[in-house]
Amino acid sequence: MPTAIVTGATGILGREIINHLSRDPTYTKIHALSRSPKPSSLSHVHHASIDLLSTPTTLSTQLTSQNVCADYLFFTAYLQEGDEKDLERINGDMLENFLTAMSLSGAEKTLKRVVLVTGAKHYGVHLGPVKNPMEERDPWVEGEGRPPNFYYRQQRILRERGEGRGWDWVVTYPNDVVGVAKGNFMNLVTAIGLYASITKELNAPFIFPGSRIFYPKIDCFTYSRLHARFCAWAAITPACSNQAFNVVNGDAQSWQTMWPRLAERFGVTIPADQFEAEDEKVVPLIERPPLEDYAATSGLKGQVEKGEVRMRIDLEKWMKREDVRGAWERVAEREGLEKDAFEKATWFFLNFVLGRNYDLAISMNKAWKLGFRDWADTWDALEECLDELEEEKVLPRTGRK
Ligand SMILES: NC(=O)c1ccc[n+]([C@@H]2O[C@H](COP(=O)([O-])OP(=O)(O)OC[C@H]3O[C@@H](n4cnc5c(N)ncnc54)[C@H](OP(=O)(O)O)[C@@H]3O)[C@@H](O)[C@H]2O)c1
Repeated sequence: MPTAIVTGATGILGREIINHLSRDPTYTKIHALSRSPKPSSLSHVHHASIDLLSTPTTLSTQLTSQNVCADYLFFTAYLQEGDEKDLERINGDMLENFLTAMSLSGAEKTLKRVVLVTGAKHYGVHLGPVKNPMEERDPWVEGEGRPPNFYYRQQRILRERGEGRGWDWVVTYPNDVVGVAKGNFMNLVTAIGLYASITKELNAPFIFPGSRIFYPKIDCFTYSRLHARFCAWAAITPACSNQAFNVVNGDAQSWQTMWPRLAERFGVTIPADQFEAEDEKVVPLIERPPLEDYAATSGLKGQVEKGEVRMRIDLEKWMKREDVRGAWERVAEREGLEKDAFEKATWFFLNFVLGRNYDLAISMNKAWKLGFRDWADTWDALEECLDELEEEKVLPRTGRK
């Protein structure tokens, strides 16, 4: 009868892993860990408040006093603070502190596998055009002219720490997560839902705020529930030992397809010439995009263009507009919504996700070949999450349900 520890219990990916495992009758105990509380009515889900930036000794004492040990560790904790160097230090330290604490407390003795959640930034999707499709065997994007990547430090920690200690590891690479969480850093669906709801309240045109170039291009998304199912499968599948996997829905989607569907759902209209006006902001990405590493061998030397983030509407500016804030106040008051949802929404992240100028195709072949026969429809996932956010009083009712 397996047991699990899930760090990042309140996060967009962690909470779904807990939901999934808690419904699996084979799991007898799940330790949900985060700084803020994660209430659960289920007797076999135990929350413990811990700060992964505490010293390993402090963490170890907390693990011992709360009897935290398990067969599987799902590590989804993530803290967004400072620049890439800070992220590398902070997020690497959180993983290292926790593994050291498990060793000090003796919890490591029962541990069979660590499932670490990272993401498609592994391929440098935040740095510019990438080689498509992205495959797990692709070389890491590092070296001169490249910023530090905390995922690499985390993966190196796993490789070093896992050596000869009786446990192995799996790493997942989700991308542009479609899921539900409150007050987290990267939350695509809440921000889109709020943008659409406020546009409706203002009786304004439903303009795609991102890039005209990206609008018809391909993105591969990860439904948080599919990711949870993958993690549960990978934890117990022997062939996954010491392997990293892309985890995306398996379909290819574009905003060209989903934006009109969103317009229909929210009862708003896309102007036929929505991209005619000047973009409000354009941010160039780094000099050497990831695709440059393949240029010489694939015959693309001199052909790789730099990436950019193009904002038809800069959402960080938009959310500060008086009419926008007033519209939110009205909707929130009228519908009894969680007022701080607007302030906590991740406008910077949405600018980025919608603003790139390159395709993001991510292969699921490796997982599928090993027997993971699962997938999700991205549009359905988006609608399910929007429905859930309506239920949770983050978004106003669209009357769809
Ligand atoms: N969201 C996306 O769209 C997306 C896409 C691709 C990859 N990823 C990757 O997936 C991983 C998980 O990200 P996520 O988006 O699921 O994160 P998230 O929603 O922001 O959740 C982060 C979790 O970590 C916990 N946490 C933060 N600092 C902590 C600390 N000092 N001690 C203990 N717990 C702490 C938070 O809870 P408390 O604040 O209560 O402690 C929360 O439960 C990250 O590597 C991220 O880069 C995310």
